[in-house]
Amino acid sequence: MKVLFLGGTGNISTAVTQLAVARGFDVALLNRSRRETIPGTRQLTGDINAPSAATALGREHWDAVVDFIAFDAAAIERRLELFRGRTGQYLFISTASAYQKPGTHYLITESTPLANPYWDYSRQKIAAEDRLTRAYREESFPMTIVRPSLTYGDTVIPLVGNSWDKSFTAIARLRAGKPLIIPGDGLSLWTITHNSDFAKGLVGLLGHPGAIGHAFHITSDEALTWNQIFEYTAAAAGVEAPRFVHIASHFLSACAPELTGTLLGDKSHSALFDPTKIKRFVPDFVATTRYRDGIKRTIAWYDADPRRQAFDDAVSARTDKLVTGYDRGLALARAEFGR
Ligand SMILES: NC(=O)c1ccc[n+]([C@@H]2O[C@H](COP(=O)([O-])OP(=O)(O)OC[C@H]3O[C@@H](n4cnc5c(N)ncnc54)[C@H](OP(=O)(O)O)[C@@H]3O)[C@@H](O)[C@H]2O)c1
Repeated sequence: MKVLFLGGTGNISTAVTQLAVARGFDVALLNRSRRETIPGTRQLTGDINAPSAATALGREHWDAVVDFIAFDAAAIERRLELFRGRTGQYLFISTASAYQKPGTHYLITESTPLANPYWDYSRQKIAAEDRLTRAYREESFPMTIVRPSLTYGDTVIPLVGNSWDKSFTAIARLRAGKPLIIPGDGLSLWTITHNSDFAKGLVGLLGHPGAIGHAFHITSDEALTWNQIFEYTAAAAGVEAPRFVHIASHFLSACAPELTGTLLGDKSHSALFDPTKIKRFVPDFVATTRYRDGIKRTIAWYDADPRRQAFDDAVSARTDKLVTGYDRGLALARAEFGR
């Protein structure tokens, strides 16, 4: 198998790259070479949005191309130009946040409708899926759609409301005795997947002729409440008495509208996925990393080198401001009730 990954050194894609190399695939990565290279791969350097990408790709043919960096229909249009007739399979990394919000059934399958009025990111991914589906129908473009849900590895502490780029922020706050916000009552169920588990499903789809034209989500079977997720994270960070403040998602998004997509369009809903389809196509797929084990590895990675522990002042200040505003509102409401 000769495969090309667009990206390949990121949060999700690093694990996919490592597993493909371990399975003996011939793996090339196209990215801007801003991160560490991965042993066993061929590095192609270029910006996918610039002519340098086409130059770096040359006239090679691939058995499969995995695209981790397409976010809208316009990007798919450019990929069709680049890869028509040059790949046996094109896998588009979409997102499980594309599934209808609010959901009408507790269990999400691949045939759950796609519609998200709250999050532009999800709508753009849906438009990209639509463009690919048309390309499959009209010109037999060999596409496969993969929808990850929240997925983490060494570099991401996947707590809702945390900084994504400076992910250690939540751990630093916990260890400093500062509060973290849990949306709602923290009782909705959520699925978080370790990137090494996601990789098993994705690599199993590479070169799979039956997967052409299909969509899959690849997630863990472990369903946890947000309260459990925050508690396991605090325990893994060695914090015995963490301060968690529960605040309704609507309150949070009214104060900080930038949180609307990730909350009302995603993490304030329960997210339980039916894994039947990926298991049918990739029979040895099984997610084996429990969150409480995976998050220990992530925190150990950060603790191993203080230079990794970048702190997001803006996200931290926003958290403090939201907690202060909420506490004031609560005090006023209590006074109204004479309490
Ligand atoms: N993590 C989740 O929870 C989650 C959930 C649902 C969907 N997804 C989807 O997963 C994908 C993200 O994958 P990931 O986690 O591996 O990504 P990531 O951590 O954001 O890494 C991005 C990768 O793409 C490369 N890259 C970024 N911009 C580029 C450009 N302009 N030209 C060429 N290369 C570029 C980066 O390398 P350089 O910086 O060196 O260029 C890196 O290899 C996205 O499509 C996202 O929508 C993620």
